[in-house]
Amino acid sequence: MSVHKKQELKKITTHQLQEMKNRGEKIAMLTAYDYSMAKIIDGAGIDIILVGDSASNVMAGNETTLPITLDQMIYHASSVVKAVKRALVVVDIPFGYYQGSSGEGLRSSIRIMKESGAHAVKVEGGSEVKDSVLRILSAGVPVMGHLGLTPQSIYKFGTYSVRAKEEAEANKLIEDAHLLQECGCFGLVLEKIPAELARKVASSLSIPVIGIGAGPDVDGQVLVMQDMLGINQEFKPRFLRRYADLNAVITGAVGKYVEDVKAKSFPNEDEKY
Ligand code: KIV
Repeated sequence: MSVHKKQELKKITTHQLQEMKNRGEKIAMLTAYDYSMAKIIDGAGIDIILVGDSASNVMAGNETTLPITLDQMIYHASSVVKAVKRALVVVDIPFGYYQGSSGEGLRSSIRIMKESGAHAVKVEGGSEVKDSVLRILSAGVPVMGHLGLTPQSIYKFGTYSVRAKEEAEANKLIEDAHLLQECGCFGLVLEKIPAELARKVASSLSIPVIGIGAGPDVDGQVLVMQDMLGINQEFKPRFLRRYADLNAVITGAVGKYVEDVKAKSFPNEDEKY
């Protein structure tokens, strides 16, 4: 294997992500929840795979991220980890497993790391979850923050619309972003906030800031894989770019299979023993 090939396969670490920010190289992050898809996107060169609690929506069909359990997140994460050779795997600690007490946050993150083999965890919120963040970090578990539209708080917000448009909320977000960096978070996700605010946060923090619906002036981008591949057709926010229409591809393939089975043209002579 050439030196170049070896370098390509070098595992992504939180330190490498920091170096990427330092040299201005953008970070590409996507969600995955299962072995087969994680294998494809890792092979395609994704830097971070997020086992997001969006699994609650896209895998389990729930309306929100709130119902997913820690056991279910560990199941998804361990399937993803088995497939990944290069990307950093970050796992969402689900709703209800870190907000109540820092001890519970620590226990949840240790279970995720031990039982799935993932490399880091992500939590939503700022000052409200500071104690949990510090306690998890004290155990040597890398933590990623998440501010702006934080879906675990959807019933507080009432809608999935753009956050931090007003000055007070924008100021709180800036404070929280600096707090999370001071605590020792290795990175931060900013979801659905004005691009100018995201630019301000990313340029004032030294840690990598990854945006979703936060404009181009951040250190990287994250999307939910089912959305960007066009599997999920109903979700059409302005920030989403569709890179494929897999819904049409799968519908066409399954339709043809049904047709062939009904017409008795599958299996044929070559497809039997
Ligand atoms: O759960 C998730 O998929 C996320 C991303 C939207 C950042 O948190």
